[in-house]
Amino acid sequence: MHRITLTRPDDWHLHLRDGIAMAAVVAATARCFRRAIIMPNLIPPITTVDQALAYRTRICAALPADSHFNPLMTLYLTDNTPISEIIKAKDSQEVVAVKYYPAGATTHSEFGVTDLRRVWQVLETMQTYDLPLLIHGEVTANSIDVFDREKIFIEYVLDPLLENFPSLRVIFEHITTQEAVEYVTAMTNKNLAATITAHHLLMNRNDLFKGGIRPHHYCLPILKREAHRQALLKAATSGSPKFFLGTDSAPHAQTAKETACGCAGIYTAPAALELYAEAFEQVQALDKLEGFASFYGADFYHLPRSTEMVTLEKHPWQMPTHFPFGDSHVIPIRAGETISWQQVPH
Ligand code: DOR
Ligand code: ZN
Repeated sequence: MHRITLTRPDDWHLHLRDGIAMAAVVAATARCFRRAIIMPNLIPPITTVDQALAYRTRICAALPADSHFNPLMTLYLTDNTPISEIIKAKDSQEVVAVKYYPAGATTHSEFGVTDLRRVWQVLETMQTYDLPLLIHGEVTANSIDVFDREKIFIEYVLDPLLENFPSLRVIFEHITTQEAVEYVTAMTNKNLAATITAHHLLMNRNDLFKGGIRPHHYCLPILKREAHRQALLKAATSGSPKFFLGTDSAPHAQTAKETACGCAGIYTAPAALELYAEAFEQVQALDKLEGFASFYGADFYHLPRSTEMVTLEKHPWQMPTHFPFGDSHVIPIRAGETISWQQVPH
């Protein structure tokens, strides 16, 4: 197959940052995706509906004039999130979910939840008002091996959470392990789904160390063994509506990545859909891409499916070595290397 046309997809997990950095990256997503769930892990974090709406206005102002891109906003859950903010979010069209970062799990997660018991009432309210919870599913204890953090999270946090809140819609974000695939697949509760990134479908943990340490392949949850990548590929291409696209495209300044203590995050937006196509093609499943990229996420969020179309052609191109990023640069995935699919004007 050399050409595929599919319904314009949505990115159900995206980091845009803010200010001149955001203005430098938002068009890369808007060129391809109809909507995106915008992560709230800014400094300070987006914890109120008013902050989310102001952030959304800044994003829309930075879009190319002819763009129809619709940013869907999220609130950052903290130990102190008031119930009133949940009710306000439910009443707004633009704020569609709440993001749970375990405190200390990843970039700017220091304001996150220290103990789920502290947000119990908030979760009850979200369940009552049917506001989805987006979960960064990793435990943070230093005693837990970094490669086991997702697996342990399922047993100690996610499973008890779902037991207590059976009607809460939960999205297990950027899953990276066979255990997560098996857990989501086996769950009879229809309120659980998961997003999968392109980089976890295309790379395993060897890619962190190929010929030397590769800071631009460092993300959280960290890349896992090949067997896990295979499990993710199987889930993404299974046709199950429980698994859908979320890039977790996470730009950082080059200097923040290439340093003694580099940030987690891979910038995939300039080739996101093209990279998913490459992954699906690896297992002869391009026919399953549209459901994963364009249908199942919208259905789970109870939002209408997009009606526009996009076309990809097998037409190799070279990813630039870097892009402007505020007063710095961001190094994209596959910098200076070949991407085999290309979006063409429709
Ligand atoms: O790799 C990641 N980068 N994982 C996250 O959870 C956060 C993200 C970021 O904001 O940079
Ligand atoms: Zn993320």
